Amino acid sequence: MNITDFHALNESNHVAVIDFGSQYTQLIVRRVRELGYVAMLYALEDFPNIGKPGAIILSGGPRSTGDPDAPDLDFEALDGFGVPVLGVCYGMQLLNLKFGGTIEASDRREYGPANLFPENCDDLYEGISEKSQVWMSHSDTVKVIPDCAKVLATNQHNTPVSLKWGERFYGIQFHPEVTHSHEGMRILHNFLLTASNLAAFKIEDFKREMIEGIRERCGNKQVVCGVSGGVDSTVLAVLLKEAGANVRAIFVDHGLMRKDEGEEVRNNFHRMGVPIETVECSERFLTALAGEGDPEKKRVIIGNLFIDVFWDTVGDAELLAQGTLYPDVIESASNAKSKASKIKTHHNRVDRILELQAQGKVLEPLAELFKDEVRELGHSLGIAPDILGRHPFPGPGLAVRCPGEVSQDRLDIIRACDAIFIGKLKEHGWYDKVWQAYAGLIPVKTVGVKGDERSYEWATNLRAVISEDAMTAEWVDLPAELLRETSQQILNEVDGINRVLYDISTKPPASIEWE
Ligand code: XMP
Repeated sequence: MNITDFHALNESNHVAVIDFGSQYTQLIVRRVRELGYVAMLYALEDFPNIGKPGAIILSGGPRSTGDPDAPDLDFEALDGFGVPVLGVCYGMQLLNLKFGGTIEASDRREYGPANLFPENCDDLYEGISEKSQVWMSHSDTVKVIPDCAKVLATNQHNTPVSLKWGERFYGIQFHPEVTHSHEGMRILHNFLLTASNLAAFKIEDFKREMIEGIRERCGNKQVVCGVSGGVDSTVLAVLLKEAGANVRAIFVDHGLMRKDEGEEVRNNFHRMGVPIETVECSERFLTALAGEGDPEKKRVIIGNLFIDVFWDTVGDAELLAQGTLYPDVIESASNAKSKASKIKTHHNRVDRILELQAQGKVLEPLAELFKDEVRELGHSLGIAPDILGRHPFPGPGLAVRCPGEVSQDRLDIIRACDAIFIGKLKEHGWYDKVWQAYAGLIPVKTVGVKGDERSYEWATNLRAVISEDAMTAEWVDLPAELLRETSQQILNEVDGINRVLYDISTKPPASIEWE
């Protein structure tokens, strides 16, 4: 998937993951990297232009192999690579067809846990326990199995769920990449062990190549980049500085930041020795947002104004560096519908940027990394753990934590509640254990008693989640003591709030932010 014009990952002997459209494809790439190997995702249309892979994984997908326009790939080319191939779900069914077998279509979907019964405890199933839980998500199944194939494992109904055709083609019906497949990582690892000399993924090598790449691309040119205090743009700015680039880092303070955040961002950059320019424009944003209660319109107002302010400041940029990450690249390319990716696409792929990109003026050195890898890179660049450990914060800031209209007094209330909650999480040692936490506003007035007076005030919602790259999230079972202290302090100190609620919604169906 050659969407970025910056390639630091060695494409030779990598694991090529071919995307047939499963919602879990990205996870396969992550898992392979977690196992220590270089993995790259390729759109099916790019096949067979996938460099010189050392192993190939065909992902799952939502379609049926029997559909008239079912996704397909050039089997001769696949075989021609001469490397081990693993078909997952749809990938397995496609391989079975290619080897002369058949697939049985079904309207009934098998979704959820199943038990695995390996025929032998070697090859793909070395060290895997009998009845190991695996995760299924499919409707079609293999029917006729060709002579060249052998069954490696069945499920509790004795249905074959894993096949091997010849010496180097493997298939599994379940998803080894999701955590619900308890020994999925081991199975994936066993597959990778059948390949020879796979390229190792080491952040230090990667950093060296990135720095060289940046030096080559930048020379003496001035590079501008936007910083927000978030992990991605911070690592980007420090990386550019480390590469000796002539960087201009710009911090647009849209006034939708958390309590004292602007000051904190400036201090952090000062600590790292990277000068930043602040553009203070809270008034402009508040005025533009005045009276607007529709969540999508609010996002568009913020996104467009942000771009205007940034470009007014930058003028004619010779080079623009962006902290785009691999999931953003993949999701923009596959038009995935996630809200976050849509907004990031909005920021990082607007017309103005696409024009610059066509002129070779956009630099996206992090575009091959996942979030946790960016943190690791940041660590190896010497960035302090408290900066790298900051919770993610949405581009449109507190506006998405303030359902309905945004106003100065509402923002001030959110800031006060949030600062108390985050302070308590830190005090109780929970800040680093949760993936993201915040306090927002529920602008609904309810009756209460404060002092001896009747109160009629808003509510605040506390949210703390653990998540894997924000695709799914679970609420955190915080200690009652922490919640009690937070609630007490908010009710005592924050004017305008007489009720504190803890959000116990998982994603899906709820999103992490309220808007
Ligand atoms: P949701 O609310 O979609 O959030 O479950 C998932 C993650 O993305 C962050 N988020 C955003 N980040 N621009 C961003 O840069 C946005 O518009 C945006 N909306 C949500 C959110 O904080 C969470 O980490």
